[in-house]
This record gives sequence, structure tokens and C-alpha cells, in this order.
Amino acid sequence: MTLKNQHVLTASQFSEADLAAVFMYADAMQKRPDTRGLLAGRTLACVFYEPSTRTSSSFIAAMTKLGGGVIPITQGVQFSSVSKGETLEDTITTLGQYADAIVLRHPETGAVARAAAVSPVPVINAGDGIGEHPSQALLDLYTIKQETGRTENLKVAFVGDLAHGRTVHSLIRLLNRYPGNEFHLISPWLLRLDRTGGDSPLYEEVRGKVAQTYHVKAGLQEAIGAIEQADVVYMTRVQKERFIDAEGYAEVKDSCLLNPELVSCMKPSARILHPLPRVNEIPTVIDADPRAAYFRQVRAGLHVRMALLSLVLGV
Ligand code: CP
Repeated sequence: MTLKNQHVLTASQFSEADLAAVFMYADAMQKRPDTRGLLAGRTLACVFYEPSTRTSSSFIAAMTKLGGGVIPITQGVQFSSVSKGETLEDTITTLGQYADAIVLRHPETGAVARAAAVSPVPVINAGDGIGEHPSQALLDLYTIKQETGRTENLKVAFVGDLAHGRTVHSLIRLLNRYPGNEFHLISPWLLRLDRTGGDSPLYEEVRGKVAQTYHVKAGLQEAIGAIEQADVVYMTRVQKERFIDAEGYAEVKDSCLLNPELVSCMKPSARILHPLPRVNEIPTVIDADPRAAYFRQVRAGLHVRMALLSLVLGV
């Protein structure tokens, strides 16, 4: 199935042809001097029920660079009729009368699929709670391909909040499709990927490629074996906003911090990615290391989202 007029809800939905098309378009968007005619006259609604810097602004920048217009509901839905009690379904049905596509972020897992069920236009999941963030996974995989030259035979260390990290949930699904990839899962026990006690459908989906699991207590040095071998170290923030108790957060918040000594043990060809925002898990002194790819990853997000909008809106 092509992406034209399709909802984008999960990383699992992308066929190999879709991924090839997104990456080809993203390459073209970087090189093309003038993209402003591509979506002229088209409108994108950006609706964010949760805070965002990169996803909201990169979709807006992408649509603008393609010549389209944007309805930005990104500064807090309290300034929309959501504050008067309007349902998600009515909000989406309404915006679908004005826009050609809707980018939606929502704190509840599954809410974007609910929105898609009533939407007259394609809905792109920009993060649904602890569920998925498929456009982030596209840009993460694109960055990995650009930085390492491949999408297969990679040792990938996923580090940090694997329980709540929707970017992890989407990227690991994409990487799971490629032969030879292996996953090293590094987190405190409380934030493990199979948090539901091995009963997690996502964990079951990817377990064939899980090489090692580390439940760190005192710090990332406990997983030095994985850090040394990794082709990609995918860092994530411990998501304070997902905790119901302050003590639980305090217990794990500093459990997975990278430092220059650990980076010095990484392979010269390895890359550090992070979906951002970061808190304290990567000190800024690491930013100058050529292996630190996270701001190049941010840049790739613009081109990948230009590609995705072009494909969904059918250029
Ligand atoms: N990576 C990401 O989703 O960042 P934002 O929360 O800033 O959109």
C-alpha cells in the first residue's frame, strides 16, 4: 500500500516500498533548490494536546517549505474549544473540513487511532502517550542510514526509559524488519521494555532480536559491554510526566547517564542518537564528539517530514 491518503498511526504499517519512497523523497528534499510549489494550496492542521518543540515546528516548517499553509494548534489546546469540553472526535471532524491532513499529538495511547476513525482526511500520529511516534522512527532510521550507511547488521543499544519511550517503541519496530540487527536493552528494571512482565506485545514482537537486557542500578557502566559493541546508542530521557509518584521518578531519574568516559569506550564509527529533548542524560560536552549525531538527526527530521507530507498528500 502506498502512503497516499493514508493515516500514519504506527511504524508497523510501513512497507519496504514506503520506507524506500520516504528516504528517496527525503534525499531529494535536501537537494532540491525550490520545493515551494509541491503542496501549494494545501493545508495542514497541527494539533498538539502535549508539549512539543521538534515535531510541531518541523511539521510546520516542512509544510511551509512545500508551499502549503498551516493551522497551528500547537501552543496549548486550552486556547481551542477543547477547553470548553469539545471531544477529540468533534475537534478532528471540524479540522478535517478545513485541512487536507492533520498532525496530532495526544497524551493517551490509542487516541490518534480514535481520531483517525472519524477523520475525513489523513491523520499523522505525532506521539500518542506511551504508544508510538512513527514519523520520529522514520527520521531516526533515515539518520542511522545516513550515518552508518546501512539499516541492517546493526547492534543498537536502546538506553533509558524504554517503558514510556514512544520513539523507542516505533524505531525498534522498524529496525526489527531488517536482517542481522540486534538489540541491547539498557534501562532500570522499572523502565524496562517488557514492563508488563514479559507479556508486552511489543516485547514479544521484537524479542527474537534482543541480544541482551541490562537492568542497571548504579549507572550505565554496568552495561559497558553493550556500549563498547554498539553501532548506534539510542539515548532517551526518563519521562517525568509519565510517573504517578515523585519517589518512583527520583529512584530512576539518574540511572542512565552517558559521560565522556563511556563515549571514549565506543567504537569510532558508532553514533549517539537521541530523539530529544534531553534533560541530563547526555552532557553538552559530548556534543562536539563526531559520534554525537542528535542535532543532525533533528535536521533530518525536516527533510523526512517534507517527504512524508508529500507522499501522504500525493505529490
Ligand atoms: N522528538 C520529539 O518528539 O520532540 P518534541 O517532543 O520536541 O516534539
